[in-house]
Amino acid sequence: MRFEESPDIIYGETAHLYDHLPRYTNRVDRDFYVSEALASGGPVLELGCGTGRVLFPIARAGVPIIGLDLAAPMLAILKQKLATEPTEVQDRVQLVLGTMLDFHIEGCFPLITTPFRSFQHLLTQEDQATCLEHVKLHLTPGGRFILDIFQPDEEIINGPVGTPVEDVHPVALPNGGTLRRITRVMAACPKTQVADIQMAYEVTAPDGVITRYIQAFKWRYFFRPEVEALLESHGFRILDLYGNYDRSPHSDASPEMVFVTERA
Ligand SMILES: C[S@@+](CC[C@H](N)C(=O)[O-])C[C@H]1O[C@@H](n2cnc3c(N)ncnc32)[C@H](O)[C@@H]1O
Repeated sequence: MRFEESPDIIYGETAHLYDHLPRYTNRVDRDFYVSEALASGGPVLELGCGTGRVLFPIARAGVPIIGLDLAAPMLAILKQKLATEPTEVQDRVQLVLGTMLDFHIEGCFPLITTPFRSFQHLLTQEDQATCLEHVKLHLTPGGRFILDIFQPDEEIINGPVGTPVEDVHPVALPNGGTLRRITRVMAACPKTQVADIQMAYEVTAPDGVITRYIQAFKWRYFFRPEVEALLESHGFRILDLYGNYDRSPHSDASPEMVFVTERA
């Protein structure tokens, strides 16, 4: 991972806006992860926990959870929110600042997750393999690993490269201002399956002053057979592949690829 691509940099300017994007807050994945966490009995290890969008509902449901993330600004927001939770919820949460490429956490987990595409920040096969080996070491025998990635769509694969799209229309911020976001796919390379994305967050303060924050990063996109081979070659048995968080079977038209796997 190059320094300028580290999540600390990627999420540094915009971490405080993450929880205000309806595209993120309205995601329908939380019930799925809570039910998987309850079924596992916990504790759960979430790789790339961000500001705790999925972590909090799991902890509130009574399941202990460790959240690992490499972006200190994201964890800082999570910590602020955690301080406002009841003590019993706070007691169920532990946070680790670190990379999913190299983590050593005491104990083994019956469930490890990477909600909302965090794994797609790993651009190379080498990094993906390294992460999976660390996951395997931290799973109980028969423990589950859920890999959650998007199904690549036309926009990523074939453009429109360079065309700005307002993918967050103005939304109200708690201070009375508004936020909108304009996203561009700057480039998408079919050979490396890496897309270069630039997101401009435009905050309009109540007095009309506009501030722009830029989030620029690369995403690795995956096709189903590649992921199946990757998981199987690292000792993960695929139990289910869902196309969405309602557990509908995956098809070519599905928006997501949610692999529920077990340590073989
Ligand atoms: C799209 S956000 C998802 C956050 C959260 N899981 C959610 O569902 O809202 C991706 C997260 O992965 C984290 N991340 C990216 N690369 C990472 C790495 N190598 N190790 C740990 N965390 C990483 C980012 O800092 C970011 O918080």
